Amino acid sequence: MNHDLEKVEFKVIPYGGKEWHEALILKENILRKPLGQIFSNEEKKQEEKHINVVGILNQQIIATALLVAEQSKCKMQRVTIAASLQNQGIGKNLLAYCEELISNQSFHLMYCHARDTAVNFYTQNGYQKEGDYFDEDGIPHLKMTKKIS
Ligand SMILES: CC(C)(COP(=O)(O)OP(=O)(O)OC[C@H]1O[C@@H](n2cnc3c(N)ncnc32)[C@H](O)[C@@H]1OP(=O)(O)O)[C@@H](O)C(=O)NCCC(=O)NCCS
Repeated sequence: MNHDLEKVEFKVIPYGGKEWHEALILKENILRKPLGQIFSNEEKKQEEKHINVVGILNQQIIATALLVAEQSKCKMQRVTIAASLQNQGIGKNLLAYCEELISNQSFHLMYCHARDTAVNFYTQNGYQKEGDYFDEDGIPHLKMTKKIS
């Protein structure tokens, strides 16, 4: 196992603090800047209502996910791993942490709108394709779901 992989600590952080701001920068750098976009104030404010998950390595935020509770299911959004640390298994561990977290809160289904480039990643982690590709932020996306026991 990769040495750094073992050292990544996943946790839920409160909205609006130093760690949340650091996480927002990572999300913006990975998800929005390549598209020439930034988060609107409304998009940032939405995060107050949801579960903010981060991964920390050497005191830096290197992974993020936002969990949105919807009755018995949960939508996972804004999944990012710092560019220099991708393809080392951190994303897999991030999903496992998020799934464990929601299973303890009695949610039975996790779903996401996966970018076409991330569909293989979610498939490898047990998510199933649902329906056809659709456009979101100018990128083809696919709904993907996983039953959580
Ligand atoms: C998509 C993303 C979250 C995946 O996170 P990650 O940490 O790179 O994911 P993992 O390392 O667990 O798995 C990615 C690949 O690396 C491979 N991998 C895992 N551990 C590895 C290792 N030690 N050595 C080499 N390859 C490895 C996996 O098999 C996987 O392959 P696949 O995607 O072709 O099936 C991340 O790449 C990312 O932030 N991408 C940009 C933003 C994005 O697209 N987010 C998703 C929006 S829906």
